[in-house]
Amino acid sequence: MPAQHSNHDVVVIGGGPGGYAAALYGASAGLNVAIVERDKVGGTCLHRGCVPAKEFLETAHVHRTLRHAGDFGFTTGQITTDFAVSQQRKQAVVDGLFKGLSGLLAGRKVTVVTGTGRLRADRTVEIVDGDDAGSILTAPSVVLAAGSVPRTLPGFEVDAKLVYTSDEFLDLSVLPTSAAVIGGGAIGCEFASMLADMGVAVTVLEALPSILVGCDTDVAAVAQRAFKKKGIDIRTNAKVTGHVPSASGTSITLEGSDPVAVDCVIVSVGRRPCTDGLLEEGTGVVLDARGFVVADPLMRTGAPGVYAVGDLVAGTPQLAHVGFAEAIVAIKDILNEPAVPVDYDRVPWAIYSDPEIAFCGLTEAVARERGYDVVVKKDPFAGNSRARIIGDTDGVVKVIAERRADGTAGQLLGVHMAGPWVTEQLGAGYYAVNWEATAEEAAALIQPHPSLSETFGETLLALAGRGLHVA
Ligand code: NAI
Repeated sequence: MPAQHSNHDVVVIGGGPGGYAAALYGASAGLNVAIVERDKVGGTCLHRGCVPAKEFLETAHVHRTLRHAGDFGFTTGQITTDFAVSQQRKQAVVDGLFKGLSGLLAGRKVTVVTGTGRLRADRTVEIVDGDDAGSILTAPSVVLAAGSVPRTLPGFEVDAKLVYTSDEFLDLSVLPTSAAVIGGGAIGCEFASMLADMGVAVTVLEALPSILVGCDTDVAAVAQRAFKKKGIDIRTNAKVTGHVPSASGTSITLEGSDPVAVDCVIVSVGRRPCTDGLLEEGTGVVLDARGFVVADPLMRTGAPGVYAVGDLVAGTPQLAHVGFAEAIVAIKDILNEPAVPVDYDRVPWAIYSDPEIAFCGLTEAVARERGYDVVVKKDPFAGNSRARIIGDTDGVVKVIAERRADGTAGQLLGVHMAGPWVTEQLGAGYYAVNWEATAEEAAALIQPHPSLSETFGETLLALAGRGLHVA
């Protein structure tokens, strides 16, 4: 398409969850929206992140189910894995969702512009490369949603043969025999869990004294135990210094301990914002020392009419659904409608390892650090009838409430879960915490029997003073 000048109500730079949510929400309010994307709408989440990773975690779940088929009376024989088929299935899921999203954008008459967008000092958007290179888009409001990319480590050059980040690893068609995962955060633990379930020998190398650092310690302990049971070798306080390729793979060197020999390395040590080249000098948009965009609670940046949403916003969780929520706040502000800022302390978190982890609100440690006197109740899944039926009893629900002057549990501060399908169960906890319910109020609501969600209900009853099964 020849270079064009076009006018819109809103121009969005970046077509990931933050950007496409801004485009869809804005268009459904009647705004004329253009979205600039250099690759494919859907962004990291759909093409190189959440969706493909969860698809492979489901592949691992099917593998676990097959391994336990004998418990239910089925003979399956030896399980052989053709990961190329798993890869094709993942791609079919991604492609189907991409088609759906493209159709949604077209249906709402969102203009999709192909190339890299750059905000100029006069706050117009220039397309610097790609099919629409040279085009200039103007609008009274611009939303920066360029996302993030994996951070890399010195001494670990990504070559997609020996060293991968999530970007390259999710395209693999043959599984390695052994792998080291550097970084025991959300991405590292999801990869480690998936690979171990598929029979790969996995070592996790985490620099800090524990894995899953942002999680409540009781929940992280359940996951850590389960990972060890799967055979994952978890090494904390690990200081990786580089790697030495060998005939069969590579050997990771560590400060103060023996090297770890593996087929390949997956680096998952966090993500950095895609703000290189995004802003011409003089836009007024402020970046922090690490290159993230500084935004206020209504997602406004330092430049009038310029908003930022998603992974590139400073000091906010890098979660697709947080990007969705921020996009709605930004568009409402653009429409001059009252917007409720995202309460980052109370957003839902979901890690899809086995066991799954899901939480929202404060951990017990953070609640205490902030000066709350707390009442805490925990209920393991071991006694839950549905958990026994599905044969997956490893896990716990932990609920934290503010302690009232009389010692009873008051407002709920945090809900933390590890165990079967907890990413699907967190919704009730999320509502309870965000509705600022007390333990009694939330406990008065009924959970179906038999269901996994009864463990949450039971924990609330106990917290409110009298549990049926938990004291
Ligand atoms: P992360 O920040 O969650 O974890 C990175 C881990 O790497 C930390 O534990 C850190 O201590 C460790 N680390 C850093 N440098 C290291 C080094 N040199 N050697 C060893 N360990 C080192 O980042 P991650 O897992 O890469 O995820 C990126 C972002 O994506 C996070 O914000 C995460 O929350 C989000 N995400 C969320 C998911 C979910 O909620 N299901 C799934 C995937 C990602």
